[in-house]
Amino acid sequence: MPLLDIRNLSIEFDSPHGRIKAVDRVNLSINPGEIRGLVGESGSGKSLVAKAIMGILNDRWYVSADRLRYNGVDLLSLSAKERRKLMGREIAMVFQEPSSSLDPNDTVGHQLHESLPMDECDVSFFKRRKWREERIKAFLHKVGIRDHKRVMKSYPHELSEGICQKVMIAMTIAYKPRLLIADEPTTVIEAGAQDQIFKLFKKLNQLNEVSILLITHDLEHVESWTKTITVMYCGQTVESGYTKQIFKQPYHPYTMALLQSMPHFNAQLSRKSQLTALSGSVPSLQHLPIGCRLGPRCPRAQKLCVEIPKMEKVRGHYFSCHFPLTEQEGKKS
Ligand SMILES: Nc1ncnc2c1ncn2[C@@H]1O[C@H](COP(=O)(O)OP(=O)(O)O)[C@@H](O)[C@H]1O
Ligand code: SF4
Ligand SMILES: [Mg+2]
Repeated sequence: MPLLDIRNLSIEFDSPHGRIKAVDRVNLSINPGEIRGLVGESGSGKSLVAKAIMGILNDRWYVSADRLRYNGVDLLSLSAKERRKLMGREIAMVFQEPSSSLDPNDTVGHQLHESLPMDECDVSFFKRRKWREERIKAFLHKVGIRDHKRVMKSYPHELSEGICQKVMIAMTIAYKPRLLIADEPTTVIEAGAQDQIFKLFKKLNQLNEVSILLITHDLEHVESWTKTITVMYCGQTVESGYTKQIFKQPYHPYTMALLQSMPHFNAQLSRKSQLTALSGSVPSLQHLPIGCRLGPRCPRAQKLCVEIPKMEKVRGHYFSCHFPLTEQEGKKS
């Protein structure tokens, strides 16, 4: 049974132009111990999906799904309190904007003290403070923070976004969730330290069987660190399957365009490939094209594309396109 099982998740909001579907019938599943990448250009709905899983979208948003289950539990049927309790125990999220996730009125050290689970504490009451401090120091070192004393005494606004993000990641790993949702976890972290964070996630995954949803627009990270991948465009799932398989043989023109933007993939592209990176940008939600949302940007678009393509399945690999790339066109040389 998948740990997370999402079928036809839609997320809508009311605008002066009527109700708008920002996320349209997205499917996503994660098995225990799996690392899945969720990719797509900025504005494709990745963070909304993550927030819908966490149940933290405000009343402006209408969330519906045929299935939104965590470990067999229907999340949409839970009360807000039951949902918070389940999330608090089992699921952790690293947010895209770290400073807004930390309390600006409290020192980082105090926030770390408060969030550290005590279930592994095996020392007497009088030694607990010291035990906590040692654990926090160890977690801060794991995420690459060496000057832990200064960081712990500081308020979030006194630290860089990168350090705040590392603190958030330290809190998350201390907590040992069963599912970790990491939304662009390293964009504000310096390039040299990014690999250290990904190695840490991998270790968490291997040693504690933590499942991870890694949201990113960086395909190189996805290629190195994930087993499966879901590609979103403009609020819809366009392709999903095993990362290796999709990198070797994408069927959807959007996935192909994303892969073509990677320098090493581009160098190995088949000379016969007719596709170049897509022109234009993601359309605004108020002006969505009818039928396939990629239509106006797609070099393969034809008349039929004014009809919404169905999700097709080939050897465990899903894609929604009327004119998918042939094996020859999609293949690396
Ligand atoms: N608070 C909001 N109000 C109005 N539109 C929003 C809001 N948050 C996100 N959106 C819109 O929803 C779409 C998906 O956003 P998001 O999930 O943040 O994309 P991603 O994380 O893939 O960059 C975008 O078009 C964005 O403009
Ligand atoms: S359905 Fe048509 S417009 Fe959409 S990706 Fe496929 S070929 Fe392009
Ligand atoms: Mg986002």
